[in-house]
Amino acid sequence: MDNLTPSLSAPLPEPRAKIREYLRQLFAGIGRELPEAWPNISPSEFAEYRQALFDRIDGLYQYIDGQSEIHPTQKAFARFFPETTLRLLELDWSQPEQRHAVTQDTLDRLERRPPAIVAYDQLYCTPDSTERRANRVLETIPQDPTSRVLFLGDDDLGSIILAPRFAGEVHVIDLDDRLLSYIEEQAPNVVRHKVDLFLGGIPRDMVESYDAVVLDPPWDEHGSWSFLAKAIVCLKQVPHARIFLSFCPLEMELAGAAMARMWRRLAQHGITAEAIETSFNLYDLVATETEGYQKLMKLYLPPVSSPLMDLLRLAPYAFAHLYQLRRIEHFQPNRMRKWWFDWWHSSSSR
Ligand SMILES: C[S@@+](CC[C@H](N)C(=O)[O-])C[C@H]1O[C@@H](n2cnc3c(N)ncnc32)[C@H](O)[C@@H]1O
Repeated sequence: MDNLTPSLSAPLPEPRAKIREYLRQLFAGIGRELPEAWPNISPSEFAEYRQALFDRIDGLYQYIDGQSEIHPTQKAFARFFPETTLRLLELDWSQPEQRHAVTQDTLDRLERRPPAIVAYDQLYCTPDSTERRANRVLETIPQDPTSRVLFLGDDDLGSIILAPRFAGEVHVIDLDDRLLSYIEEQAPNVVRHKVDLFLGGIPRDMVESYDAVVLDPPWDEHGSWSFLAKAIVCLKQVPHARIFLSFCPLEMELAGAAMARMWRRLAQHGITAEAIETSFNLYDLVATETEGYQKLMKLYLPPVSSPLMDLLRLAPYAFAHLYQLRRIEHFQPNRMRKWWFDWWHSSSSR
């Protein structure tokens, strides 16, 4: 715990204050008010409250799943807000004190960022999440002029927060010119590359040349792998090299064995998980209520009239875990597979 962590008696900073207020409203709405002492309650009391909410949610799922006219995609998407809420409940109870409060410097640097574009899958994490990611890189990767960090997609603007404090080079790949210009304006020493990570490959000179790769890819199987594969290709072959993957597994867990496939693919490429920190990142859903986002919600949320769904739809934040990944020591890759993988994901070959 750092010295920026507020004491219990201090007023709660965002985003925790909003989460707690949302949970109180939700439980009042289902007729089971959270106790005055929340979140300082025993594990057995917590389990009772969680179960009470889960039972209502389960009833909602059964109702939605029983409607034959609702498309399976909408049935799956209907789980997004309930499952997110269960996570937020667990987060607020298990870590009653906010992980850390964001500094004014970070807020200032992010203040004039361009609005998120849904077509680019942009959903900004909270400034404190961005700062935590930068801190984690600083704690893990050697502070050395030869060290290099790559952000694969950087709508969360981690490069701007990291660069002034990092002794080595910071690079960013993104497709969005607005973001690349904003990064240039805020942190001119960040090296920027415009690459389409779906359609293009990474430049050949970026292969195996980064001590850390930071990414927050799309949450579906194809999109996440398009980004992750590039992260693997860019990672140096040194023991301290790390991939910092921010990822919400909800969509892939709901899509059968997609998460299992992701772990198997990582292992086939000599990558393993060193640590997983749950709900490390939060994403402000209210601030993202753009027109495009609203359209998406209309398209994917099932057209059911349910007071419980209306309450759950007010969840103020989405979440993502932080997966810290590293190369497996002494891993002997299948040479043919490695050659093909590097060739496919780097651009000199296309
Ligand atoms: C995929 S978005 C997702 C991030 C978001 N925080 C989330 O969790 O949903 C991450 C970054 O990738 C960038 N991006 C999206 N599509 C891209 C593409 N085809 N090539 C390169 N970058 C892309 C976006 O501009 C954004 O900065």
